[in-house]
Amino acid sequence: MNKTLVLGVSGGIAAYKAAELTRLLTKAEYTVHCVLTEHAKKFIGPITFATLSGNPVLSGNFEASESGKIQHITLSEIADLILVAPATANIIGKIAHGIADDLLTTLVLASQKQVAVCPAMNLFMWENPATQENIQILQNRGIEIIGPVSGNLACGYEGMGRMEEPEKILEEIHALLVNHRIFSDKKILITAGPTQEPFDPIRFLSNPSSGKMGYALAKAALQFGAKVTLISGPVNLQPPYGAAIIKVKTADEMFAAAEQKFLESDIFISAAAVSDWKPSLFHSEKEKKSGSSKILELVPTPDILALLSRRKKNQILIGFAAETENLEKNALKKLQEKNLDLVVGNLIHWDGKSPFGADENEITLFYKTKLSKSLPRMSKLKIAQIILKEVEQLLINPER
Ligand code: C5P
Repeated sequence: MNKTLVLGVSGGIAAYKAAELTRLLTKAEYTVHCVLTEHAKKFIGPITFATLSGNPVLSGNFEASESGKIQHITLSEIADLILVAPATANIIGKIAHGIADDLLTTLVLASQKQVAVCPAMNLFMWENPATQENIQILQNRGIEIIGPVSGNLACGYEGMGRMEEPEKILEEIHALLVNHRIFSDKKILITAGPTQEPFDPIRFLSNPSSGKMGYALAKAALQFGAKVTLISGPVNLQPPYGAAIIKVKTADEMFAAAEQKFLESDIFISAAAVSDWKPSLFHSEKEKKSGSSKILELVPTPDILALLSRRKKNQILIGFAAETENLEKNALKKLQEKNLDLVVGNLIHWDGKSPFGADENEITLFYKTKLSKSLPRMSKLKIAQIILKEVEQLLINPER
């Protein structure tokens, strides 16, 4: 990749992961200039970054470079992207409020280039409204927020706050630099997650969909520059910053929300695992246990995708097919019956390889031409990026 990155490293324990990130970036042929804050140098030495990047490491404040220009100006001129990883709560706060008291923060303030930050901190710092508001400010200014993720934290707690893994950051940076203008004039509507179909106030019919595929699609669509509306069933995921989110529970609610947004959308991707049936009756009080068997009558829910496809004008429509058998036959049937442009198919097994809840999946793309393309197992974000690349092609040639 013939691009230049400024990698800003701030002072958190995840700074050691920034060394691996530097290695991955240079291996992927990015030119990397590392800027360390004074706090970062307490965690990891500049020599590590100088060796891995092959470039001198900068820190401190406003020293003049060889060209006679001061460093923060030179660096922001040559950078295609400024990436701050790890980004502590402190540096996020400084960037949000325009504080420029060292080289890195001055560089970000003086730059007109794209900026991405990878937050890494203790979960309470992450959850603190001060941090959340600062993140929102960054997001509103178009700064890309990568992560954090949930997991074991250096402080001994478990929860949200771990820096995203370097491999994933590399994937996202790559996507950001390559794809960020593709859909700048497009509105993408995405459904995600399961639906819950209640038969009393505390019981419902649902499925194990985690929503990860739909959320990855929303994230990728934002990376591609689209305006994204994400209609989500009940899931345990943080919506990607920048997406307009509509939370729903039932298929009927999901349909109502999708119907409202459909006509103004250019692309509709139906990644939700919508329940095909709902209980025919809803009891407003809890059904009491009686010890004997109980018959639950189910009636069909609206088939959102099929119903909206009848109102299709110029939209690109993409559906998912999760099948336990005859994937090709079922996916092509869906493609035709629901008047879709592309179907993303995957086989579901109950042998531990179920894509529900997993971070990765193995899919096959089915086209209107009846051709298909199977992809190896990969992350859902990568799959999402591939699907959006297909959408890009479909916009050029809808008969693909
Ligand atoms: O026919 P089937 O339900 O298997 O089709 C799956 C596709 O249709 C998925 O894209 C799913 O999101 C969508 N769907 C829907 N409304 C339903 C059921 C499925 O939009 N009620």
